[in-house]
Amino acid sequence: MPEVKEDKIVLGKSVFIPLLSEETIQARLKELGKQISMDYKNKIPVFIGVLNGAFVFMADLLRNINIDCEVDFFKLSSYGDEKITSGKVSLIKELNCDVHGRDLIIVEDIIDSGLSIKFIKDMISLHNPSSMRIAAFLYKPNSLRYEVKIDYIGFQIPSKFVIGYGLDYAQKYRNLKSVYIINE
Ligand code: IMP
Ligand code: MG
Repeated sequence: MPEVKEDKIVLGKSVFIPLLSEETIQARLKELGKQISMDYKNKIPVFIGVLNGAFVFMADLLRNINIDCEVDFFKLSSYGDEKITSGKVSLIKELNCDVHGRDLIIVEDIIDSGLSIKFIKDMISLHNPSSMRIAAFLYKPNSLRYEVKIDYIGFQIPSKFVIGYGLDYAQKYRNLKSVYIINE
């Protein structure tokens, strides 16, 4: 685990400072869960989590959903172990369920350039779902380079690198309960 000094996380030359506390995150998820549950009243949506980053958000969001729903996951690879996007996306794990005619909510950890979510939307559209919305835990509006509508946003954040609550740096720190942002 990283070195934590006065609530700062020091990873080599990079220092990360607190951005979103556990309490702030959980309070927002209550609101989001309520909103989604209302919007999908009398429907049975399928929540589709994008691995790996979305697993923490997905788990906490789902526990705030009070209507019947189903869950599936798929896995993309884009970043490798770098802090900047590679500009390439590939599919590693396909969906297991039949999404034809279903109401889908794609669950992402973070929308940065928008490349991943655009790739996902285009790919899933080919399976003819009845509807498709996007729920993102974090959104960096100033980084967006692709035209995509995000229907449910946890938090808008500055265009800087963040870790924790599912978000990694070189695959680590996903298990932090709160979100930390690079201090530069
Ligand atoms: P996009 O395709 O540029 O929108 O990037 C989306 C993916 O990049 C996310 O699903 C994350 O896995 C990763 N990513 C983007 N920004 C960050 C960050 O600040 N910290 C950790 N991962 C990030
Ligand atoms: Mg990642």
